[in-house]
Amino acid sequence: MATAVEIAAMRRALELSAARLGTSNPNPTVGAVVLDVSGKVVGEGVTQPVGGDHAEVVALQAAGDRARGGVIVVTLEPCAHTGRSQRCTEVIQGAGVARVVYGLSDPNPVAAGGGEQLVAVGVDVESGVLAAEAALVLGPWVAAAGRDRAHLTWKYAATLDGRTAAADGSSQWITGELARADVHRLRAEADAVLVGIGTVLADDPQLTARDWPASRQPLRVVVDSDGRTPLDSRVLDKSATTLIAVCDDAPDDRIDALRQAGVEVAVLERSNGHADLAELLTLLRQRDVFVAFLEGGATLAASFLRSGLVDRLIGYYAPALLGSGPAALGDIGIESIGESLRLTTIDVTRLGEDIRITAVPASDNQPNGRN
Ligand SMILES: NC(=O)c1ccc[n+]([C@@H]2O[C@H](COP(=O)([O-])OP(=O)(O)OC[C@H]3O[C@@H](n4cnc5c(N)ncnc54)[C@H](OP(=O)(O)O)[C@@H]3O)[C@@H](O)[C@H]2O)c1
Repeated sequence: MATAVEIAAMRRALELSAARLGTSNPNPTVGAVVLDVSGKVVGEGVTQPVGGDHAEVVALQAAGDRARGGVIVVTLEPCAHTGRSQRCTEVIQGAGVARVVYGLSDPNPVAAGGGEQLVAVGVDVESGVLAAEAALVLGPWVAAAGRDRAHLTWKYAATLDGRTAAADGSSQWITGELARADVHRLRAEADAVLVGIGTVLADDPQLTARDWPASRQPLRVVVDSDGRTPLDSRVLDKSATTLIAVCDDAPDDRIDALRQAGVEVAVLERSNGHADLAELLTLLRQRDVFVAFLEGGATLAASFLRSGLVDRLIGYYAPALLGSGPAALGDIGIESIGESLRLTTIDVTRLGEDIRITAVPASDNQPNGRN
């Protein structure tokens, strides 16, 4: 069983990891803390941008000889493969560490098995330590690493009665500054930010991470079956890379015009009248988008939900009422209360006057959104 000192070290490792999310794609942003034989912290590390060292290596280098006979506490199972950097299991063994404590297992087929390899060479290994807390930080990356599509979080901001705009269409600003800054943090942590063409036409968003020290901008993705995105949209400016997902029967002149404007166009199958969303998430994962952030609107979010493709929801609720105006979510095919899509709340945080609720679909829901 993990000791109190090891659990405190795991909390610190998670803190290190959370503070740098979005900086090490395609690698997970892992945190690591090294304890010497007496339980004193002698090294800390976080995964460096691609091509740089993994968290374990950084922490062990900081610890030097003091790691011998000690413990390394890591948020994710140490990797067991040699990619751009050295295998973490070998580095740990070489440092003479006696015990490895980690939070989540690595499902990535090319890197998994590190825990077993360490046990095989006589290292004491304990897994699953603060796993629920670790999942809040690294869960999206881990989910995407174990399958062929990106992890998707749908975010929305609404009044307490679930409206995202007033009846006249005005919607800025429903939530306060802290909630808005939090959205920019989540954009910075994501590998891609997605919106529907309806949101581009209505709001002309730039979709960049501002109000937050982002080390790079996420890929901006507009789901736009017929390539209607206006060429002067802010989402096409040069501040970040943009991908427009169109259908295979979209007008050629629109596709050409978008490409000539320097935009990447992904051609997807048409499914139920629109771009195929499962194909889109698979395509994104193929280009190393592990963590995707859907920012609306209600129509596209409903389609993702109906397809069972939303992994996590983040709702920002402002203490205001509108009574009329568009709802946060479009039709998801539910007709009676017994069919409602049940969620499990995993976090509730107050941000100034607003409330952020993070939830995941309950495990007993069927993929089509019905119980
Ligand atoms: N408060 C918030 O959090 C928030 C966030 C975002 C937006 N909004 C508001 O929401 C409004 C826009 O929402 P919206 O519902 O009209 O637009 P939307 O959801 O952004 O876009 C809908 C469009 O996406 C396209 N699309 C492509 N593939 C699709 C698929 N598989 N399923 C469904 N749609 C697909 C469709 O047009 P094609 O068939 O032509 O592709 C569809 O009309 C704006 O007023 C905006 O202010 C609020």
